[in-house]
Amino acid sequence: MSADQPIRHPPVRVERRAVDEAESRHANGPDWDRYADEYQATHGEFLGDIGFVWGPEGFTEEQAGILGDVAGKDVLEVGSGAGQCSRWIRGQGGRSYGLDLSIRQLQHSRRIDQQTGIAVPSVLGTATHLPFTDGSFDVVFSSFGALQFISDLDRAVAETARVLRPGGRFAFSITHPTRWMFPDDPGEEGLIAGQSYWDRTPYVEIDDATGVVAYVEHHRTLGDWVAVLSGHGFSITDLLEPEWPEGHERIWGGWSGVRGRLTPGTAIFGATLRP
Ligand SMILES: C[S@@+](CC[C@H](N)C(=O)[O-])C[C@H]1O[C@@H](n2cnc3c(N)ncnc32)[C@H](O)[C@@H]1O
Repeated sequence: MSADQPIRHPPVRVERRAVDEAESRHANGPDWDRYADEYQATHGEFLGDIGFVWGPEGFTEEQAGILGDVAGKDVLEVGSGAGQCSRWIRGQGGRSYGLDLSIRQLQHSRRIDQQTGIAVPSVLGTATHLPFTDGSFDVVFSSFGALQFISDLDRAVAETARVLRPGGRFAFSITHPTRWMFPDDPGEEGLIAGQSYWDRTPYVEIDDATGVVAYVEHHRTLGDWVAVLSGHGFSITDLLEPEWPEGHERIWGGWSGVRGRLTPGTAIFGATLRP
């Protein structure tokens, strides 16, 4: 189920078991620190130093328009990685800021800031404790950042609502919840449903040598997402499911044309905070 299969730090063993927020955070921060260099080397060109893609299909914010006009707006990217999306927002006239759990990802962000001359002020932090005062932003977004890596989703959405101004926008992309049913295999094997869509037990990688949890992903159904957004004062306006583009042959973890032509790989939610 890992968003970045094949498994990155062998030897690990894969389990499905309950993992709380602290354990998820303590696993995923160091995991992204270890993985950041390889991630940027592998995907950096596709992401573009100044580019906003919502997922492996290459569907861009320019195509989606789900954030609305960001010019002159205060924008927070949660799970900002190397800041590619936020840099694109700056190019559109938005005042974007990044937040990420991984210091190494933020170092890549700083490196690209210096290379491009477009700086995204960024902080080290977690989606469940946003270090900003109430009503600081007009827009909060996350492109495959944070939300599927945290256990306490309720807290993360509450935090998002708190830092947004009334009427503010929240949009995020995640692995499409239906993918949870399938093995994380980009080939034909990845088309055979083998586990329950309704089983929310997290996907966990455990370091074989130490027995320590090394990576975690959490699953929610579409209904869970609707409930948590609505429960924190959001009106859902969009659920985009980008199709696999003709001629797009990129394989990214479990995402591929083989699967993408038949099943959705990415879900993008858009919501507005009710005034
Ligand atoms: C798949 S990357 C997405 C980043 C960027 N949008 C991209 O496409 O490269 C996921 C990012 O989420 C960050 N992340 C994971 N858990 C987080 C958390 N609890 N709070 C904030 N960021 C988190 C990771 O460090 C990583 O940089």
